Amino acid sequence: MKIGLREVGPEDSARLLRWRNLPDVARWMKSTHEISQDEHERWFRGVLARDRRIHWLIILDGEPVGTVNISAIDRGTRRCEWGLYLGEESARGTGAALGASVLSLDLAFGAHGISIAECEVKPDNDRAIALYERLGFRRAGRRQSGGAELDLYEMSGQDWATVRPVALELLRSRGAEI
Ligand SMILES: CC(C)(COP(=O)(O)OP(=O)(O)OC[C@H]1O[C@@H](n2cnc3c(N)ncnc32)[C@H](O)[C@@H]1OP(=O)(O)O)[C@@H](O)C(=O)NCCC(=O)NCCS
Repeated sequence: MKIGLREVGPEDSARLLRWRNLPDVARWMKSTHEISQDEHERWFRGVLARDRRIHWLIILDGEPVGTVNISAIDRGTRRCEWGLYLGEESARGTGAALGASVLSLDLAFGAHGISIAECEVKPDNDRAIALYERLGFRRAGRRQSGGAELDLYEMSGQDWATVRPVALELLRSRGAEI
């Protein structure tokens, strides 16, 4: 299995809206209401403008299966937010999420010069938390955000340098490569 990323383009709009409104994706997002076409288009214009953010599609053996992004990129503090989801149920448990995490964190801490990546997660999202801890993210607190209670996780570029080889080994042991 081969995992890659490609930057989101205009042709990906409908796919992203469909995935985002799937019940098992929406329930883990900060806002859980059904996203309308209008709301999606406003958000998607910001994505295409790369307005302090970059969104990629996660490609598993040539097929798009999910999305990963860095957002709120702050060149001053060198911080960003990071997040992902798999839209295709069949991609769960394959290593696609782990591989896409490695690729996107490499870009964040490498080409984009980030020193701290943050992510927010609902406290009962055990699967996402297991992945984040596996990647070296550490819990940095809890906050109210957009009406939801969220755990905040953080990781530094130095921590990533230590964890990266372990993540790559785990990926190989699952029969996946990036
Ligand atoms: C979160 C997500 C990207 C993880 O990808 P995945 O392919 O499902 O994850 P994996 O199968 O690699 O599992 C990740 C870890 O969770 C563990 N896990 C799997 N299912 C689990 C469950 N039901 N409960 C607890 N842990 C679970 C796995 O064992 C693995 O841990 P390990 O590396 O220590 O073995 C994916 O499930 C997803 O898109 N979920 C819906 C949207 C979402 O929650 N996004 C994150 C929002 S913050």
